[in-house]
Amino acid sequence: MCGIVGYIGDKNSVPVLISGLSSLEYRGYDSAGVAVLNDGTINIRKTKGKVENLSALLLEHPVSGKLGIGHTRWATHGAPSDTNAHPHFSNDEKIAVVHNGIIENYQELKDELEAEGFKFSSETDTETVAHLVDFYYKENNDLLEAVRKTLERIEGSYALGVICTDYPDTLVAARKESPLIVGLGEGENFIASDIPAILNYTNKAYILDDRELALVKKDEIKLYDINGNEIQKEVFTYNWNVEAAQKSGYEHFMLKEIYEQPKVVKDNLAKRFTDDGKHIVLDGIALGKKELKGINQIYIVACGTAYYAGLIGKYLIERLVGIPVNSDVASEFRYKEPLIDEHTLVIVISQSGETADTHSALKLAKEKGSRVLAVVNAVGSSIARDADDVLYTLAGFEISVASTKAFSAQVTAMYLITLHIAQELGKISEKDFTEIKQALEKLPSQVNDILTKAVPAIRGFVNKYIGSKNVFYIGRGLDYVVSMEGSLKLKEIAYLHSEPYAAGELKHGPIALIESSTLVVGVCTQEALFDKTKSNLEEVKARGAKVLAIAMQGNKSIEEVADDVIYIPRTHWMLTSLLANIPQQLFAYYMAKDLGNDVDKPRNLAKSVTVE
Ligand code: M6R
Repeated sequence: MCGIVGYIGDKNSVPVLISGLSSLEYRGYDSAGVAVLNDGTINIRKTKGKVENLSALLLEHPVSGKLGIGHTRWATHGAPSDTNAHPHFSNDEKIAVVHNGIIENYQELKDELEAEGFKFSSETDTETVAHLVDFYYKENNDLLEAVRKTLERIEGSYALGVICTDYPDTLVAARKESPLIVGLGEGENFIASDIPAILNYTNKAYILDDRELALVKKDEIKLYDINGNEIQKEVFTYNWNVEAAQKSGYEHFMLKEIYEQPKVVKDNLAKRFTDDGKHIVLDGIALGKKELKGINQIYIVACGTAYYAGLIGKYLIERLVGIPVNSDVASEFRYKEPLIDEHTLVIVISQSGETADTHSALKLAKEKGSRVLAVVNAVGSSIARDADDVLYTLAGFEISVASTKAFSAQVTAMYLITLHIAQELGKISEKDFTEIKQALEKLPSQVNDILTKAVPAIRGFVNKYIGSKNVFYIGRGLDYVVSMEGSLKLKEIAYLHSEPYAAGELKHGPIALIESSTLVVGVCTQEALFDKTKSNLEEVKARGAKVLAIAMQGNKSIEEVADDVIYIPRTHWMLTSLLANIPQQLFAYYMAKDLGNDVDKPRNLAKSVTVE
C-alpha cells in the first residue's frame, strides 16, 4: 500500500527520500513523488510508475532542499496518473501534503471547499486535505493548528506528512488507522510509514498512535494529541537491520524468504519448551488454565495467507482440544455482528500487524469483551500494541508481497498455541505431547530437505505445466486448508486462475470444469484421508486432467493416479501442512518467474493492506 517518507536536517533531502521510497517499493504502488522546500518555494516532482521513473524525472528536472516529503501511491480514488500522484499542493503552492489511507467524507469536504473557491486538479481524496489545511492555515498562520483542525474534519484513515513554505524547518505528521513513525536521527529527523524507509539512518522512532500529531524539526520533536495537548512517548528501538531488507544474492525477495524458512521455524521453536521439555513457554501470553477454563469458544480472524494459517489452527484446536473454533476473514467478521463475548478467545493473525480489517476485527472483539491474542510478525505494530496478548512470529522482515516465511512462522505458532491450550486443559497425554514435540523439532531440517531436493523436479513441472490456464488445488482436512494457500500463491504471483476445493466436494459441481487442459494439484499428506483423496484424483484423471500430487514419503501408490509427485518427509499428521506448503511456494514462484511476472511486486497488490 502507499508509502510515506519525510526528512528534515542538514542534508539534501532528495536522496534520502528516494532511498526511503525505494525501500518501501515492496509495499506495492503505482506512482511516486516528492515535495522539497528550498528558498521559500516547494518544488514537486511526481510521476506514474516506479520510483526509478521518479529518479529519471529528478535527473531531468533536479530539485534539492533540506526539508522534503515523499510518497508512493497505490490508487484508491482516481487512476494511477502523474496528476493523481502525491504530493498534493494547496492552490497557492504554499502547502504540500502526502497521505496514506482514505478520506471517507472527501466528497462532502470537496463540495464545501469548491464553494469557498478552492480549485481541485486531481481526482484524489487526498487533495481535500491540502486545501483544508490551507483553509485553516489562513485563519492564523499556525501550521500545526491548521493540521489539527483538518483532522477534526476528516473521517476515515490517514497517515499524513505536511510541509509549508512559511515553515522551512518543520515537518508536521499525523496518524489515524494508517501507520506512521517519527524517526530520531542526530541533527536530523524523519517520518515514515514503515521502518525500512529510514533504517539506513536510524532504528529509533516514536510510533504515533491514532489521532496523534508530531511537529518535527531537525533537532526537536514534539508530539501532541488531537486536542493539541503535548504528550510524551517512549522511543521504540527496532532490532531489524538493513541487511534483512536486502536480497543477499537471491534473484527475488520471495526466493530468499522461502529459503529462510528452516531458520524461521527453528527460531519459532527455540525457547518455546521448558527445560524438561514437558511444557510450552509462550512469552507474553497470560493464558493459563484459569483463563482458558473460562473460554467456551475460540474465534480466529485474519486475512489472506494469515487466515489460512488460522484455519490450520482451527482444525488442530478443535481436534486436540475439543473447543468449538470459528474462523472468519476479518472483512466479514467486522460487519457480521459476531456471536462473541467475554467467554470467547479471539485469535487475530497478521504478518504486518497493520492490516486494517484485522485491526478493526480486534477492536470489535475487545468492545464485545473478548480476550484477544494476536499472532503478529511486526514488532510494535498497531495490532500487537492493541491486543491483550501477543505471540511474535519471529520471521524477520518479509519484503515480498507474497507471504511465505511469515506463513510458516504463523503455522508454527498455531502448533504451539494448540499444544499449549491442550496441555493447560489436560487434553493431551504426556506421550502424545512428547511425540509431537519430537516431530516439531525435526521440521526445520525437513523444510531444508525439501528446499534442497525438490527444486529440479519443480522446475520440470513448471516447464511442463506452464501453459495451464486453470488450476484446481484439492485436498481433505488439513490438506484442503493448505491447498487454499497454494492456490492463493499461484493466483497472486503467477496470475493463473486457480481454485482450492475440498476434494470430496468437486463432484458436487466444479468437476464439470475439468477437461484435458486442467491441472489439478492434489495434496494428500493426511494418511487417514489418503485413499479418499486418491479416489478423487482418479475421478479428475478419468476426465483428462493432469495431476500433480504432494504426498508423504512412503505413499508410493499415489503414482497410480498422479502424472507427477512431490514427496515430503514423513511427519506427525498435525504438522504436514507446513511441509506440504513448501513445494506449493516453489511451484508458484517458478511459475511466476518463468511467466516473466514481477514476482516480488505482483500487479494490483500491496504488502500491507491498510485500507478497507
Ligand atoms: O499483514 P497481514 O498478515 O495481515 O496480511 C494479510 C494478507 O493481506 C496477506 O497474507 C496477503 O494475502 C498476502 N499477499 C498473501 O501472500
